[in-house]
Amino acid sequence: MAVNRPKPLVAGNWKMNGLKAAAKELALLVKAVAGAKSKPRCDIMICPPATILSLCAETARGSGIKLGGQDCHTEISGAHTGDISAEMLKNAGARACIVGHSERRTDHGESNSEVKRKAEAAHRAGLMAIVCLGETAAERSLGKTIKIVGQQLKASLPEGADHKNCVIAYEPVWAIGTGKTPTVADIAKVHGYIRKRLIALLGDETGMKIKILYGGSVKASNAKELMGISNVNGALVGGASLKAKDFLGIIAAY
Ligand code: PGA
Repeated sequence: MAVNRPKPLVAGNWKMNGLKAAAKELALLVKAVAGAKSKPRCDIMICPPATILSLCAETARGSGIKLGGQDCHTEISGAHTGDISAEMLKNAGARACIVGHSERRTDHGESNSEVKRKAEAAHRAGLMAIVCLGETAAERSLGKTIKIVGQQLKASLPEGADHKNCVIAYEPVWAIGTGKTPTVADIAKVHGYIRKRLIALLGDETGMKIKILYGGSVKASNAKELMGISNVNGALVGGASLKAKDFLGIIAAY
């Protein structure tokens, strides 16, 4: 198979963390990236809470660091109290939106088909969709990882997915925020499988180019090993994205 590694993406998901003062961490990140001797060898993204997205967009302006939302509604607008549309995220400065994060799937009962519609809403608004997949600890212990990930991929992938509008993030649920990670061999196996399925679903060219991020307890100390695994094209980072220093340690893996 031709080696055509997509440019990696290191994306930070701040989850429900961050008041206005958190933009200072982003400012530190901007300063460090601008002051570095060489350009980062990966794309960098931060997905802050929607309440400070505009502020973060101002902070990151001109830095090359992109911003994303953490979730979106399927509709453009309407009577959906508390929800946020992809168009609103775009308007506030986002270039991408995470959809189907396991915390959304668990806390809000989001199904694969809803995740797919959310990814399509992101595309409608001109945002890249970061589609999250991953098995639970129980599914893993039953040996169902590949089956679950395959089902989620097929049913969550938006119509018209390509390497410009779509990124896949494999995040084993049991590895999120726990400090536990799968073995290198396990990650290689799942990412290899996702790559194979993407090629089968979307054809060689697109299937090879779509980035597949790994997420779940990525930190500076394990980033180099994890990012070096075949078919791992970057990271989706939770806890270690909250402090610029920690996040820079992950970016430095490239
Ligand atoms: P974590 O979260 O890095 O804190 O494990 C990852 C994620 O949920 O995206």
